[in-house]
Amino acid sequence: MSPACAIPDSPIAVLPGLAMALRSRVKAARRLFQVGTWPWFGAADAMDDLMPWGRGQLTPRHAQTGGGPKPDMPEDTPPNQRDLPFYHLPVLLQEVLDALQPAAGKLIFDGTLGGGGHTEALLQQGADIVAMDQDDEALAYARARLAPYGSRFCALKGNFRNFASVLSEAGVGGLDGMLIDIGVSSRHLDAAERGFSFAKEGPLDMRMDKGAALTAADIVNTWPQEDIERILRENAEEQNARRIARAICQDRVKKPFTSTLQLAEMIARVCPKQGKKHPATLTFQALRCEVNSELPALREFLAEAPKWLKPGGRLVVISFHSIEDRIVKQAFQNYAAPFIDRPEWPAPKPNPQYCLKLITKKPVEASEQELHLNPRARSARLRAAERLPAA
Ligand SMILES: C[S@@+](CC[C@H](N)C(=O)[O-])C[C@H]1O[C@@H](n2cnc3c(N)ncnc32)[C@H](O)[C@@H]1O
Repeated sequence: MSPACAIPDSPIAVLPGLAMALRSRVKAARRLFQVGTWPWFGAADAMDDLMPWGRGQLTPRHAQTGGGPKPDMPEDTPPNQRDLPFYHLPVLLQEVLDALQPAAGKLIFDGTLGGGGHTEALLQQGADIVAMDQDDEALAYARARLAPYGSRFCALKGNFRNFASVLSEAGVGGLDGMLIDIGVSSRHLDAAERGFSFAKEGPLDMRMDKGAALTAADIVNTWPQEDIERILRENAEEQNARRIARAICQDRVKKPFTSTLQLAEMIARVCPKQGKKHPATLTFQALRCEVNSELPALREFLAEAPKWLKPGGRLVVISFHSIEDRIVKQAFQNYAAPFIDRPEWPAPKPNPQYCLKLITKKPVEASEQELHLNPRARSARLRAAERLPAA
């Protein structure tokens, strides 16, 4: 169960070289993210996509454009971070720290860097971080934000489904902790031009990695009806999958789908609204999952991750819907069972995959206090496990 590459004496030792190579990109990112270049992104606006039940008593962050630290920044936030616009509020932050137990001398992998909120909290506790994201905009933002941490932080472009080869290439070996906080960031939903939001006019894109080939428009305009119906069921458990897939295929003959609102309005016409949830919520979730191969990426990550943990190292996964959480739960249970049994076997057999101890028997959810500040955390479910000592 040990990783393919050797664990170097100091795994972070190779990172200063990479950090130097990235310095020019960080400079460019700093220019891009100067105050005033971007609006002060409103987390509250993004909530409408994720929180069909409403925003609750969310602090109107977009109203807080004055100087000084942003609401999620402590008073001693370094000046360079005060200049950055809002990107994403990390969910279950204290719970992540409790599970990963960051400390000086530990190396932790963050596979979903996003705006760098979780990573920064881990850095502040003394851990070194090697991080990944498939979105160039997230990488540029987080590199600018976390530049003061120098060679203790390294961000690599890529999909976490390929983390093993990316880390091997960077010369990184055994890890003390691993985190993935899957799905989209608030920034994705705020940026109409990325096409993630059914509430904002934009192209039907939905790619986290803008270099990827498949867009949501490709799916709705070219895929057979049965395949569209299948992904609506598999990726989002949409009850109206057949009706929506049929309507998409009928409408696209008259006029191909090019925009988010065009699709959202068509779905609202064929599926009347029930409750507070917009009828297009699950279709957008399913398309986004397919465009970004989210469920296969999660499965592939979980198949490799425990091999990279040192004994005592912790694995933390935050998911945002029940299909993802089920995948995480089953994977963790497979790794945490000392024996496996089949009805046709005379007796249970030792489980060759047994290597983890569950830290969370049930998924951890956000506290009322956190939900008050950040309603998006309502769907978040955290599961954590610890690598057992080698047998
Ligand atoms: C929910 S946000 C993470 C927020 C982050 N924890 C923070 O504190 O700001 C998810 C991020 O992960 C990235 N992402 C999602 N799936 C990914 C994958 N399979 N590989 C790499 N990055 C991924 C997205 O681009 C996005 O920036």
